Amino acid sequence: MENIVWHPHKVSKEARSEQKSQKPCLLWFTGLSGSGKSTVANAVDEMLHEQGYHTYVLDGDNVRHRLNKDLSFSDEDRVENIRRIGEVSNLFVDSGLIVLSAFISPFAAERRMVRDMLPEGEFIEVFVNTPIEVCEQRDPKGLYQKARAGQIKNFTGIDSAYEVPENPEVVINTAELTLRECAQKVIDYLANRGLLQ
Ligand code: PPS
Repeated sequence: MENIVWHPHKVSKEARSEQKSQKPCLLWFTGLSGSGKSTVANAVDEMLHEQGYHTYVLDGDNVRHRLNKDLSFSDEDRVENIRRIGEVSNLFVDSGLIVLSAFISPFAAERRMVRDMLPEGEFIEVFVNTPIEVCEQRDPKGLYQKARAGQIKNFTGIDSAYEVPENPEVVINTAELTLRECAQKVIDYLANRGLLQ
């Protein structure tokens, strides 16, 4: 980029994570609205925090209230939403944290884009594979009802696409497992990968 020079940090990512005695990574929760992304991400966050890890959760509703409040749910804005969140997540991972990001992130290309922003192995895709019938039955915010009534346009799973992840690192179905079991499955994956010390 013209006239802009990258300024290197004096303290490296390795030094930051060594000081915290943890390996930074990004747990990327993707799934339909109402699938349980934020709920599971927050449960994992709580469990890791109790074990002494330094974590941080980013989620769709909250980020769209502030940082991305200028973005709609058009395909184009969803792409920009995920691009910005990918960059923010990457900065947090660079700071040495275990980051949990929970966004519908419906398009495979943008999930791939975020994966490619991070060093190999630090992006962990968690597909919250809850069937749409279950999400719609739960309808915690009444949004499916509004979408069916035509009061919300471009609603994921109704009149906007959700591309199912092809090779996610972890798959959880919140309709079949308890919240604790879902969270434990994610933690077991991290432990098996040697990411929890
Ligand atoms: S995306 O697709 O990744 O940009 O979406 P995200 O930033 O995660 O925001 C999803 C939350 O926004 C609410 N909402 C909608 N979701 C999908 N489609 C439409 N049209 C829509 N309008 C509002 C909804 O509450 C989503 O929250 P979750 O937690 O996923 O249910």
